[in-house]
Amino acid sequence: MSEWQEMYREKLMTPEEIAKKINSGDQCVSNGQIAEPCAILNALAERAKKENLKDIVHYILLPMRDQLYLKPEMSDRIHYNSLFVSGYCRELIWDGYADYIPGFYESTPGNMERRGEINVFYATVSRMDKHGYFSFGTAADMGDLVHKAKKVFLEVNPTAPRSHGNCFIHISEVTALCETSIPITEVPSGEITDVDKAIGAYISPEIPNGACIQLGIGGVPNAVAQGLFDRKDLGVHSEMFTESMVDLIEAGVINNSKKNVHRGKCVVTFTFGSRKVYDFLDDNPGVQFAPVNYVNNPFIISKNDNMISINACIEVDLFGQVCSESIGPKNFSGVGGQVDFVRGAMASKGGKSFIAMPSTAKGGTISKIRPTLTTGGIVSTSRNDVDNIVTEFGIARLRGKTCAERAKALIAIAHPNFRDELISQAKEMHIIPNK
Ligand code: COA
Repeated sequence: MSEWQEMYREKLMTPEEIAKKINSGDQCVSNGQIAEPCAILNALAERAKKENLKDIVHYILLPMRDQLYLKPEMSDRIHYNSLFVSGYCRELIWDGYADYIPGFYESTPGNMERRGEINVFYATVSRMDKHGYFSFGTAADMGDLVHKAKKVFLEVNPTAPRSHGNCFIHISEVTALCETSIPITEVPSGEITDVDKAIGAYISPEIPNGACIQLGIGGVPNAVAQGLFDRKDLGVHSEMFTESMVDLIEAGVINNSKKNVHRGKCVVTFTFGSRKVYDFLDDNPGVQFAPVNYVNNPFIISKNDNMISINACIEVDLFGQVCSESIGPKNFSGVGGQVDFVRGAMASKGGKSFIAMPSTAKGGTISKIRPTLTTGGIVSTSRNDVDNIVTEFGIARLRGKTCAERAKALIAIAHPNFRDELISQAKEMHIIPNK
């Protein structure tokens, strides 16, 4: 048995034993999404209930499983301070049982440090290799915090991919670890609707050969990707690695050959998708994972020429302010990496950013282009950062345009049922001349 295997054996515990090492008042940070250490958290929640633990704080971007700690009655014991708002915590936050820390994804690890001592870093990892290293697998976003935490707990999952990059931790740095056999969560790609296809058909031609792309999850990014199979030499620098990227790599479209930084490699901070994505990433040096404070740093993003970022939003006002994270005052989502990539793309030579949305919501009854944002709506991408807005009716190119030109460009891509009303409101608000 090697020295590292010996160390592994000594540090191996059950999730329940690890839970005993986490105490009331501890601040605990996890890598994001699929990398949440669910067996440890479930054991911790059971212990917290039984032993009346209080004020443990858990931080993660986006939980992908319903778990005991997310029940309202657990909130005084394990309080969830979310770094994003999603289906698993939206109502909890609205009802005051969890809270949300706004912030650009790039600055999230720094924001955690600012909140005080990090007692625990925990994450799901892939199996240990012969040199004693574990890969963070599906998410390396908070990876830098591993060196700041007093205790490090790993949940070893043989179904997690051994992804490459700046995403490894050595057994000597680990306080304790446990094993789980529950397969990591798979997230199938959603349907591409006709509206997604129409939006995608406007954006795809904007992506030249040799461009570097950022795509998120959802119908529009998937539809854009469908339109890229005749392109060549594309690169990837993206917070998320997606299934559509696997298809484009396998088709020879993405080869990263024109990137100025990390030439030949995709650079990302997390992934989720189907088994196909996880199998593709397993032991694949072509995709490099790194902490989000590196990947989403606009300066790093901007180093690649022709950086194209594509994201979505809730609504846009006639000034070009983009709300992506709330419906009125209700937190619906988070800013995530939207602004990191808008700014990175804008600073890249030849770069462009696209914020896409269907022109209407709620079965066509609500225009997503509005005179002003819904009262309480949060500005995610400001009018000073915004570049292109896209709906199924076209692209409104806002950069460098006057206020009147912006309003007219936005009205031209609103749903026809709402255009007259928007024109008269724009006149009333003195955004376009009332003559
Ligand atoms: N007014 C009222 N409700 C609205 C609305 C509006 N203007 N726009 C959307 N909604 C409702 C929809 O009807 C839908 O409600 P339902 O769930 O009851 O059907 C819900 O909000 C979600 O809308 P949808 O268009 O399906 O959203 P989506 O899944 O495409 O996500 C964002 C859109 C904006 C929430 C998402 O892209 C996001 O979180 N963006 C910010 C983060 C980001 O850009 N990160 C970088 C890339 S990973």
